[in-house]
Amino acid sequence: MAEKEERWLKIELYTSFLYEGMVLHGDLYTELGEKVANAKEPLSKQLIEELKLKGVKKVYYSKPVPKKIKELPEVIKPETLEKGFLVSQEVAKSIEGDKPLPVKDIESTVETFMGEISSSKPEAVLNMLELKEYDEYTYTHSINVSLLSIMFANFLKWDDKKIKDLGVGAILHDMGKILVPKEIINKNGKLSNEEYELVKKHTIYGYEIVKAYKEFNETVQIIPLLHHECYNGTGYPFGLSGEKIDEVAQIVSIADFFDAIVTKRSYKPGYPLWNAFLAIQQNTGTKFIPRLAIEFVNKMPQKLAGEPVLKVGDFVILNTKEIAEIVELSDKSTLKPTVKIYINSKQQKVKFPIVVMLEVDQTRAIEKIIDDEKALEVLKKLSLEFKKDKDKEGVKKEEKNTNDKDITKENNIQNSPNDNPEQKDKNK
Ligand SMILES: [Fe+2]
Ligand SMILES: [Fe+2]
Repeated sequence: MAEKEERWLKIELYTSFLYEGMVLHGDLYTELGEKVANAKEPLSKQLIEELKLKGVKKVYYSKPVPKKIKELPEVIKPETLEKGFLVSQEVAKSIEGDKPLPVKDIESTVETFMGEISSSKPEAVLNMLELKEYDEYTYTHSINVSLLSIMFANFLKWDDKKIKDLGVGAILHDMGKILVPKEIINKNGKLSNEEYELVKKHTIYGYEIVKAYKEFNETVQIIPLLHHECYNGTGYPFGLSGEKIDEVAQIVSIADFFDAIVTKRSYKPGYPLWNAFLAIQQNTGTKFIPRLAIEFVNKMPQKLAGEPVLKVGDFVILNTKEIAEIVELSDKSTLKPTVKIYINSKQQKVKFPIVVMLEVDQTRAIEKIIDDEKALEVLKKLSLEFKKDKDKEGVKKEEKNTNDKDITKENNIQNSPNDNPEQKDKNK
């Protein structure tokens, strides 16, 4: 996919997601094409309020697609993705019309996915379907969950028969939703208890649909049935816990959660890949079986982003609200690097940076990678300042005075809101 020019990606943002001081990579436009802000200039509170007052719901900006990803080969052929989408749509239409499922098409789609995944180059990245229309979510989601599950099972070196069942079950995992009233599935606001109970039934409905076909064995059947069970027993429909939840259902559950986070929906933006990996890490041992979730977080970033989630020199916000720089990565657990803390939990600059190995310190974990350009500029300066101070140390034993200012507010470093979309995603 050689492209001479830099490629730009149009990003849609809900006005409600804008915040004061937010810095964007491109000029900001309304839906009507009116330019409202310049690239790289912090957004003002006044502008955000004006947009809201005018009833502007969405705004747009463009950002360059990182070259590194673009140059990497893709695992799945575009025509295979398109075929997958059509099959997924056909499955939904068959259920809606009470017609037989296209069993052969589902199986051949999964076989093609498996073939392209196992014959792909090691450096190739897994490309998935992008959601174009909101009402197409179930179709694109089913295919993406299938692709993610197959790719992961491939890493786990499962045999082909089991991977095929996993891929088929993943395509079918949410099809029970077709039998839940559309108004509930597409509802934007919070669901009532009764509505949530109905949504939960998509697991049982899905199981019943799949069970009617002799071609779909027990492994395929339990995927729709158990993909919302949680490791700690808080899931549904049965509240199973631990290893009682079959691993095929757990893998689909991880892939399902991952795709829900990275996909843009009518009520939330699509979050970056690393955000999804961090969220899986945060749910390891509660929602997800550790042995699978840890493997997913360690193995999949390379396959999805073409690079590890974290890099030395990245700045992160910890669960303690401390702000730190990644100074060393260990191979074993990619989301638990060694970090140097510059800003304490009271949002004040520390006197001396503290170095913490997150692999050892169980009380701290990365919550968010800072990607706001202006905040990064400030943090890089701070990091340099500390390095200079250290150089001076040998010569001068003078202590640097702590500046008690609220450094994060002043420089607009956003602490992570609890933006785990899973909690909002009642459609899953
Ligand atoms: Fe799902
Ligand atoms: Fe589901």
